[in-house]
Amino acid sequence: MGIMSERTKDLHYEPRQFPQGFLWGTGTSSYQVEGGNQRADWWKWEQEGGHIADGTTSGRAVDYWNRYREDFALASEHLHNNAYRMSVEWSRLEPSEGEWDEEAFTHYREMLTEAKRCGLQIMLTVHHFTNPQWLMDKGGWETRKVIHFYTRFVQKLCDELGEFVDLWCTINEPMVYVLQGYIFLEWPPQRRSYYKAAKVVWHQTRCHRAAYKLIHAWAHERNRVTHVGIANNVSSMTIYRKHSFLDHLAAALIDRGMNHVFYYLSGMRTHDYLGLNYYFHFRIKSVWDFLKRKGPVETSQSAQFESSDIGWELFPHGIFDVCMDMAGYKKPIYITENGLATTNDDKRIRVIVGFLMQLHYAVQEGADVRGYFHWSLLDNFEWAKGYAPTFGLVEVDRASMRRTPRTSAMVYGMIAEKNAIEHDFLRFLGHGTTDILNEWKKSHTQT
Ligand code: BGC
Repeated sequence: MGIMSERTKDLHYEPRQFPQGFLWGTGTSSYQVEGGNQRADWWKWEQEGGHIADGTTSGRAVDYWNRYREDFALASEHLHNNAYRMSVEWSRLEPSEGEWDEEAFTHYREMLTEAKRCGLQIMLTVHHFTNPQWLMDKGGWETRKVIHFYTRFVQKLCDELGEFVDLWCTINEPMVYVLQGYIFLEWPPQRRSYYKAAKVVWHQTRCHRAAYKLIHAWAHERNRVTHVGIANNVSSMTIYRKHSFLDHLAAALIDRGMNHVFYYLSGMRTHDYLGLNYYFHFRIKSVWDFLKRKGPVETSQSAQFESSDIGWELFPHGIFDVCMDMAGYKKPIYITENGLATTNDDKRIRVIVGFLMQLHYAVQEGADVRGYFHWSLLDNFEWAKGYAPTFGLVEVDRASMRRTPRTSAMVYGMIAEKNAIEHDFLRFLGHGTTDILNEWKKSHTQT
């Protein structure tokens, strides 16, 4: 005899429906996919040699600059997406100080026109880690001047590309930029200094505030509705020793210092939505542990837990935690990034379904989640790790630049198309998924 009542059984088999108008998308960033961004600080840094773990350089990346049509077609037809998050490359548009490359603007305009034709709403990121080299020569984000340069760029973006943008993302992961460039020193400009790091954070918040005002003024004049926010790298945390007061204190400090600090410093009123990039779960022992080690990864003690190919712990429940935490601000939430690097696509499928189930619980519990952008549409240049980690729903063979959608792309596409997780997909959550998947793939490729 079953233990479930008929009603519970029905509920159990009902699809996990997402709110109407939910945005289903993927994300990319210009430098990681376009190729040939020779005026960027990263390009120069790569040429020094020895910085990129797998010995590659970004080079042609995945030639998205020329193949974006094919990529948008995949996003809309194969993945059934209705949204897309992309960035513009500042160093391409303003290759030297104050000089705009009008051809590059035209190219982005063509790109955005095509995205719209494919039915994709656009989240446009203004700054995604890379900078024009000329800006770095003037002190980059450490000097107040960046506010002038950045806002001038945003104004130009509004005038040239604003009509295509539904959601603006002023800065991608401001705190990660600072940690990697000024504390962990894994990325340029590799200047270890807490003082400089603090200045950079401050200037980022000033830039965001200025951009917020400017974009709203621009939209207001044109009677357009617009939404402005950032993509914030947020982590979930558990305490390593649950009775240790110090561990609790450390977790609270890291949580405030990482997940919330940008909102405090920039003012919550300058965020129309909360963009959350969710990858990390930390098991916190002490703040010193966190700072002493080179990166956040080791802090999670992830070796003992299931993790991606680059050692990041996979903890689907964490996306529920961060959404519920941020729901307290009473703002719309978008998951602006979430994904994993793996060569095992069955694992990718299981983890995606796991994350989306948890996201659905968060929605049921009242978090105002309006969209989810999986990272990433394509395999791409994974910063200082090079091309070895594969985050893409679509595989890219870099020799031929051929795109091949993985099965995970089909699964994600079916969820997006239905705006729901069908009960059928819950079978992928167990660990013995390979056989189930093979059977599923067979039946879906026959139809
Ligand atoms: C960044 C992406 C990056 C991804 C995976 C995020 O922190 O915004 O550019 O590829 O994580 O590492």
